[in-house]
Parts: sequence; structure tokens; C-alpha cells
Amino acid sequence: MQRIAIFASGTGSNAVKIIEHFKGHPTIQVSLVLSNNSSAPVLAKADTAGIETITFNRAIFYQTNKIVNELKSRQIDLIVLAGFMWLVPENIVRTYSNKIINIHPALLPKYGGKGMYGMHVHNAVKDAKEKETGITIHLVNEEYDKGEILFQASCKLRENDTPETIAEKIHVLEHANFASQIEHYLNTSIQSQ
Ligand code: GRF
Repeated sequence: MQRIAIFASGTGSNAVKIIEHFKGHPTIQVSLVLSNNSSAPVLAKADTAGIETITFNRAIFYQTNKIVNELKSRQIDLIVLAGFMWLVPENIVRTYSNKIINIHPALLPKYGGKGMYGMHVHNAVKDAKEKETGITIHLVNEEYDKGEILFQASCKLRENDTPETIAEKIHVLEHANFASQIEHYLNTSIQSQ
């Protein structure tokens, strides 16, 4: 069995899609959902799906090995960041080298890096009058949005697109691609423990 842990900070629409995708899957399961935000809606959605959740604060995440130990004790094979707003600490990046995947709501390397998340990204894309935008699924290392790019999908933008309609187009791309790209990466790049 290959086990996934999802980190999320907010709504969790991507996390829900991933949970649904692997529900009843013969060899892949979502074992754990973790959040830095104890009131994140994603936690209730995980509970509804019968998936264990763990929350943590900065001190635990950055000054202890508690989270990496929780992951190892559950034999997690892959970490998925689905709307997770914090930088992953060194001890987790090192332990899970090439086993952490993130989704970014733009075509990296453009519109990436610290502070570039959520509506900030779509506002910047709109302000730049881009004719297209898209999603990037990439491996995670010590720097924001800098790891190897695994997959990108783009969508056309029109003059009358607003940051809100751009966000909608991005969510459609994310929900259509993230789970299957996770499965592809597990099948091709990860040996289960
Ligand atoms: C997504 O747009 C994702 O690209 C970004 O954070 C957002 C999370 O949305 N990393 P949700 O919480 O999955 O709805």
C-alpha cells in the first residue's frame, strides 16, 4: 500500500478531490490530513471522509521533529501540499526528498515565490494582462516554488477575465489534473515502504 499525507491550510477543495480520487483504490490511500490552521475547513472534510487529521503550530512544525515522526510512524510514502501556506522545514524536506509534491496556481517560474499564493497570484496575472495562465505541479525543496516541475496545464485568458474568474479557471484545471498526476508520480517514481 502507498500512503499519502496531505498538508492544507484552508478550504481544501483540492484535498477533497484527491481523497475522492483514491477512495477504494487498491494500492494507494490517503492516510492523513495535516494543517497549520486548526479551523481550516479541510479538517472537517477529512473527518467526514474518515481520515485522521493532525494540526500543529509554528513551534511544533519548525522547532520539533513531531510532524516528521508522525509521518514516519504512519509509513507515509508521499507528502502532498494542497493549498499549504508555510515553507516545509528542512527536517521534513530532507527526510522526504523528492517525495513532496506541491501545486501552484500559475505557470512557474512566473508568479512564484514567497507571498505569491491564492488571489495574489491571480491579481498579478491580471495586472500583467497575461493572455494565459495555468497550474504547475512540482517537487518541493527548501525554497518556495523552486523544485523540479512535474506537470503544467494552461488556460486562455480574455480581456474581461477578473482575478475571480481566473481563480475559477485555475481551480477547474487543478481539480482535473492534481490527483491523476499524484497517482502517476507514485506509479513511476516512488517505491512504497
Ligand atoms: C489552490 O489554488 C492551490 O493552487 C494553491 O492553494 C489553493 C488551494 O485551494 N496552492 P483549496 O484549499 O485546495 O481549495
